[in-house]
Amino acid sequence: MRTPLIAANWKMHKTVAEALDFVKVAEPHLAAIHKVEVVVCPPFTSLYPLSQRLQGSAIRLGAQDVFWEERGAYTGEISPEMLQEAGSRYVIIGHSERRQVLGETDTVINKKVGNALGNQLRPILCVGETLEERRAGLAREVVQAQLKSDLKGIMVQGSDLVVAYEPVWAIGTGVNASPEDAQEMSAFIREQLSQLLGNGAAGAARILYGGSVKQANIRDFVRQPDVDGALVGGASLDAGSFITIVKYTEETVHD
Ligand code: PGA
Repeated sequence: MRTPLIAANWKMHKTVAEALDFVKVAEPHLAAIHKVEVVVCPPFTSLYPLSQRLQGSAIRLGAQDVFWEERGAYTGEISPEMLQEAGSRYVIIGHSERRQVLGETDTVINKKVGNALGNQLRPILCVGETLEERRAGLAREVVQAQLKSDLKGIMVQGSDLVVAYEPVWAIGTGVNASPEDAQEMSAFIREQLSQLLGNGAAGAARILYGGSVKQANIRDFVRQPDVDGALVGGASLDAGSFITIVKYTEETVHD
């Protein structure tokens, strides 16, 4: 069985003080959660202080990006070892904002996934189509091509890989994909993973849905058989809303 995972993607939000305030409120509530893995991905500056504050807690930390080399003359970049030392177990790779705003290509994303896995950081690999691509009936082809390039030459142990299906048109727009579309694409992603990585890795990989997830719709997503949780942006910034999303997930997966 796959353990459901709810990951908060804070993007470029929250200072260290604000991140610590969030955890102060959220941690006691999340301590009662046993069947859902909870990961918070703050900006780099908050990783270490949060990891100190969360010692002994079940809440895990993730970074929002990593460089593709282990060390060297790469001004401004950050290595997997540094992220681990700062308390990260996970790292978001290939988020559509990095693809679109920062011009990250699948080649770069592939190298980052390899470097993360090679250094015991679990990637949360984001894939998803734009609105134009969906309207043109190309959603599957786009996701298939992303997975093929992003996972080229990659070997995965157990449940180390997480894939987030995040249709670009649903991110930060308030317009979520339908739970049925999320299920259909997640099943398709699992099929692709089995071709690319083998049945074992495909069966163990958590596939998340991301894009305007909120308290009102989380249950409909995590009820789907191939949707193993969510990557939550805007609705993860408020501790109360994030706690509710995690609680609803825990209740729903037991239905
Ligand atoms: P959103 O963002 O929940 O605010 O739509 C999701 C994401 O970008 O991961």
